[in-house]
Amino acid sequence: MNTKLCVLFVLAFVTWPCQGSDYQVFPLRMKTGYNEQYPTEVSCASWRLGVEANNLVKWKTVPAPCQEHVADYLLGDQYRSDSKTVCREAYFYAKTLNITQKDIFVFDVDDTALSNLQYFANHGFGVEEHNATAFKIWVSYGEAFALPETLKLYNKLLALGIKVVFITERPLDLKDVTVSNLQNVGFYKWDKLIARDPSIYSGKLSNAFKSSERTKLAEEGFRIVGNIGDQWSDILGDKRGFRTFKLPNPLYYD
Ligand SMILES: *[C@@H]1O[C@H](CO)[C@@H](O)[C@H](O)[C@H]1NC(C)=O
Ligand SMILES: *[C@@H]1O[C@H](CO)[C@@H](O)[C@H](O)[C@H]1NC(C)=O
Repeated sequence: MNTKLCVLFVLAFVTWPCQGSDYQVFPLRMKTGYNEQYPTEVSCASWRLGVEANNLVKWKTVPAPCQEHVADYLLGDQYRSDSKTVCREAYFYAKTLNITQKDIFVFDVDDTALSNLQYFANHGFGVEEHNATAFKIWVSYGEAFALPETLKLYNKLLALGIKVVFITERPLDLKDVTVSNLQNVGFYKWDKLIARDPSIYSGKLSNAFKSSERTKLAEEGFRIVGNIGDQWSDILGDKRGFRTFKLPNPLYYD
């Protein structure tokens, strides 16, 4: 550690040594809560980490005791900061590439480019069981706002000369409203916006649909240099991209 940093640390935490050798590390910290239970805040943070790491899969709803934790996470600074870390890393990676005409970056739409936070705020922050009808009505309003860190990344990628392709679970009949919603909030251009065609993909899992559409892109000669989404199903499977980026989403599991 250089001297300046050391001085800073000394100023900030007078009692902390700079060498780090005086930390006391206990092999097993005793649980702090009552009756062997962790406080809700602690166990819900663990739940969220399990979700983001794809250790907890196929869950249907946010555990009811974690509703406030999830709401605080999404409405506070942490969600934005976590998203920023992901988007910055994607940009730093993209900057290292020698871009060609064939290079594309795949973006998901829901809770990647557009935020459905308003909908979920009115429906229990993921605690209520998903209602596809109500969700479709919300989407059809075309009023979702842009996720700001994704929008920044999108603009930077375009400036680097990388083409953008959106692949969305939204069905074809919601394509027009999706186009206008994206454009209204600052996503002005893309090479393709691929919505789910129910005549081909009825009953298929999200991952199968996205893999199949990415494979088609590869067959058309595109090189998928990157792929960003909030769901693991966006970034696993065939032709997933040279690098994938997972945005946080503790609200639902696709
Ligand atoms: C990009 O091109 C330069 C010059 O041709 C080359 O030196 C460099 O290794 C290339 N980088 C990558 C990541 O391919
Ligand atoms: C789902 O949403 C629709 C439209 O708002 C509503 O009519 C229906 O009752 C809801 N279903 C459930 C199970 O809540």
